[in-house]
Amino acid sequence: MKTLQEIIDDSRKIVFFGGAGVSTESGIPDFRSEDGLYRQKYTVSPETMLSKDWFFSHTEEFFRFYRDKMLPLWAEPNAAHKKLAELEKKGKLLAVVTQNIDGLHQKAGSKKVFELHGSVHRNTCLKCGNKYTAEEIAAEKGVPHCGCGGLIKPDVVLYGELLDEDTVQGAVDAIAEADTLIVAGTSLTVYPAAGFVNYFNGKYLVLINRDPTPLDSQCDLVLHGKVGEILSEIKV
Ligand code: APR
Repeated sequence: MKTLQEIIDDSRKIVFFGGAGVSTESGIPDFRSEDGLYRQKYTVSPETMLSKDWFFSHTEEFFRFYRDKMLPLWAEPNAAHKKLAELEKKGKLLAVVTQNIDGLHQKAGSKKVFELHGSVHRNTCLKCGNKYTAEEIAAEKGVPHCGCGGLIKPDVVLYGELLDEDTVQGAVDAIAEADTLIVAGTSLTVYPAAGFVNYFNGKYLVLINRDPTPLDSQCDLVLHGKVGEILSEIKV
């Protein structure tokens, strides 16, 4: 089996498809691992608290959970984010497609990032469309309201919401154009995101994930380990 270095050396149009496991080495827990968010004990499940219905029916509780668990503004990019930004700068990586909402890829310098589930850094007044930063939402107490009186909602895809069409199209086009697709830090259990890998028809399908995934058997290279550690070894 070819090594990751050989594959990257042999690639000109890499696309990286990542999930919460890309940010755990920045100190942000993922969702479904032992120490993941969805394993923590809550009276109401996190999947419920991160749903569109809950946002509108229990707005106060939504923002309490959201500020507590979904706004890690202290987090810094790790070696994985940095290496991907370097690969893009060297013209070897077309785009990052991420399920994460933490903005760490952009913080590391990545330019072409398709955020399938949105971003905590974009918040919009539902009445007048005014935009607010994650820092402004974090600084507020209780339910954040716009000067116009409207409710401010994070531009994050909640359960029960659709993904942004332009983002989806951009991600699918990039994956379809790639010669190498690196899938990392994701359990590949949430659709439609998990289905995007099916648009890949390039040369090398690589998986870097701590735990096994349903995709393992279809890959040219499977590395079970920490994506930050593994990518930090790569010479660009
Ligand atoms: N390196 C490599 N893999 C890792 C690391 C790491 N440092 N840390 C965790 N992992 C792996 C875990 O083994 C797990 O398989 O990352 C995966 C994370 O899976 P999930 O917690 O399910 O996260 P993700 O796949 O991104 O979830 C998808 O679910 O709730 C929704 O919207 C939410 O975007 C999220 C979606």
